[in-house]
Amino acid sequence: MKTLAIETSCDDTSVWIINFDWQIFTVDSLLAYSQIQDHQKYWGVVPEIASRLHSEKIIEVIKNIGLEKIKDVDFISVTIHPGLPGSLVVGKAVASLLSSYFVKPLIHVNHIYGHVFSILLERNMTDIQFPLVVLTASGGHNDIYIVTDNEWWMMNNEWWERKKFGGYKIARVWYTLDDAAGECFDKVARMMWGPYPGWQRISDKALQWKSNSDLEFKRIFLSKDAFEFSFSWMKSQVSGLLKALEKKWTPLTEELICDIAYEFQEAVVEVMVKKLIRAGIAFDAKTLWLAGGVSCNDRLRAYMQSYANEKMPGVVCVRPMQKVYCMDNAAMIGVAGILEYLNQ
Ligand code: KG4
Ligand code: ZN
Repeated sequence: MKTLAIETSCDDTSVWIINFDWQIFTVDSLLAYSQIQDHQKYWGVVPEIASRLHSEKIIEVIKNIGLEKIKDVDFISVTIHPGLPGSLVVGKAVASLLSSYFVKPLIHVNHIYGHVFSILLERNMTDIQFPLVVLTASGGHNDIYIVTDNEWWMMNNEWWERKKFGGYKIARVWYTLDDAAGECFDKVARMMWGPYPGWQRISDKALQWKSNSDLEFKRIFLSKDAFEFSFSWMKSQVSGLLKALEKKWTPLTEELICDIAYEFQEAVVEVMVKKLIRAGIAFDAKTLWLAGGVSCNDRLRAYMQSYANEKMPGVVCVRPMQKVYCMDNAAMIGVAGILEYLNQ
């Protein structure tokens, strides 16, 4: 089975062809235009520029994939929600056009489910053990999902958003009350350095940290039993500290920057991992997944592995096979699109 997948929810015009041989999802062709350099000087993504660039680049990207290849796919998958409305509409319009022209079914895919199922790319499906608990952490969302391959019994809370995907059942069980972790990384990087994107710089500076600092940010767990996340307070702690330093004319030395980056990353990672493991224990998970842009963070992955070894020995911890599958991409939309198609 083959799908042409289109993803234009934010600042990447991404078009991939994904194959599924009933055991493994693989990438056939991929083409993308990243707008990062176009938004850099504005210190963040500008929605109007993003939608204009999608409309300028998408036909070129599709032409480079080749119309012969598109003729060969079984159906078209496209991200419809959530994302920047002006960007999503470009992908949706082009997908509808291709679907009508080539007379192929059109499958609408939710972007977050794409992140959840990005883990299946290039992984043997028979190796995965259920139930599994997934943390999707990106610039715009920070949620915990449970996925099973059998009954709905675990998902009997009427407030949860539930869905069937191929042979799987999925429910969103917890979420962020305000900012997402990635958004918090972006905003803190902007406060400290300016130009977008700055998240990698936080991790790089954290690696240079020397363990003689007594700086400590409060970990925001909300309450002992709360599963929801809140990261806006995390961001406020950093901005409060920067303002206090400025008031006292304390220079932001390289050493201080490394201390702030390290302590900020530790605080965010600790909250994410402890909540994920708490959910894993509550649902007796066999596997824990990390997905979304923030799953590129190596410290997050290392912390998750060591904390899971301590609290849930034997549980398998995974994130997408490649970092490119963590960030927004059409491959994950293809995987979710194929699972959705199998529902029909
Ligand atoms: O999934 P994604 O590409 O887009 C959304 O759906 O939002 O995620 C992008 C986000 C960025 O905002 C950035 O904050 C975060 O992923 N990110 C990271 C790292 N790499 C990307 N956050 C922390 N550490 C990283 N190494
Ligand atoms: Zn995303």
